[in-house]
Amino acid sequence: LALTACGSQSTSGSGSGDGSKGKKLVVGTDAAYAPFEYLKDGKIVGFDADLLKAVMKEAKLEYELKNTGWEPLFASLKSEQVQAGISAITINDKRKETYDFSSPYFESINKILVKEGSSIKSVDDLKGKKVSVQNGTTGQDALEKKFGKGDANVKKYETNVLAIQALLNGEVDAVVADNTVVDEYAKNNPDKKMTVVDDKTNFESEYYGIAFPKGSENKKKIDKALKTVIDNGTYSKVYKKWFKV
Ligand code: ARG
Repeated sequence: LALTACGSQSTSGSGSGDGSKGKKLVVGTDAAYAPFEYLKDGKIVGFDADLLKAVMKEAKLEYELKNTGWEPLFASLKSEQVQAGISAITINDKRKETYDFSSPYFESINKILVKEGSSIKSVDDLKGKKVSVQNGTTGQDALEKKFGKGDANVKKYETNVLAIQALLNGEVDAVVADNTVVDEYAKNNPDKKMTVVDDKTNFESEYYGIAFPKGSENKKKIDKALKTVIDNGTYSKVYKKWFKV
C-alpha cells in the first residue's frame, strides 16, 4: 500500500527528545473532515490534530501525522504501516474485531444535510431519494441498516468533501455524515443554503476513539495521557478553540 503519495507532517511531542526512545509513531488520518481534520496551507489542522498533539506531548511520544485517506487508513492500521489513526473514527463492535481503540474522546451522531426547502425531514423521507455518504463510514452503515445493503440510491464517495459536492451538484438529494461536520458546513457556507436534519429515532449516539492495530502497546500510554489531558483542562481548551461555546 502506498503511503508515499500522501502529505505528512512531523511534530515532536517531547521537546528535547529525552525519554522518548524508540521510533516516531506514524498516525494516519483522512484530512477532509473539517473541523476534525483538514488541510490548511498544506498542513493538517483541526480538533483531532490539536488533541493528538496534546496527548502525544503528555505521553512523551514522538509522532508524525500523515494524510492517508479514510479507507487506506484502516488498511494501514491492519498492516501496521501506521501505529495509530485519529480521524473522527467511531468506535463500534465491527471495528473492534479488527482494531483496538482508545477511550472515547468525542460524542457524535449522524445527521442529514439537505438543500434549504428540501422535503426531507427525517431518515424515513430518504426512501427513494439519492443520498451520498463517505464510503466505509457509520453514515453508510446507518443507511444500509435502514434501507438494505446495496441500495442503489446510496451513493458512496471516497471523501466526505466529494459526498457534499454531489449534493451541491444536484447529483444527490442529501448527505449523511457526522453532526458536527454537517452543522459546521451549513453554518460556514451560508451562500450554499443548506439545512441540517436531526433524527434521533433513527440515528444512534457514537463515540470517537483513536484506533490502533490489535494488541498495540501504545494504547495504554495514550489512554493514560488522554485522561490527563481531559482532567487537566487541556481538552476543554482545544474544544473551545474549535467549537466556540
Ligand atoms: N465517524 C464516522 C465513522 O467513523 C465518520 C468519520 C469520517 N472521518 C473522516 N476523517 N473522514 O465512520
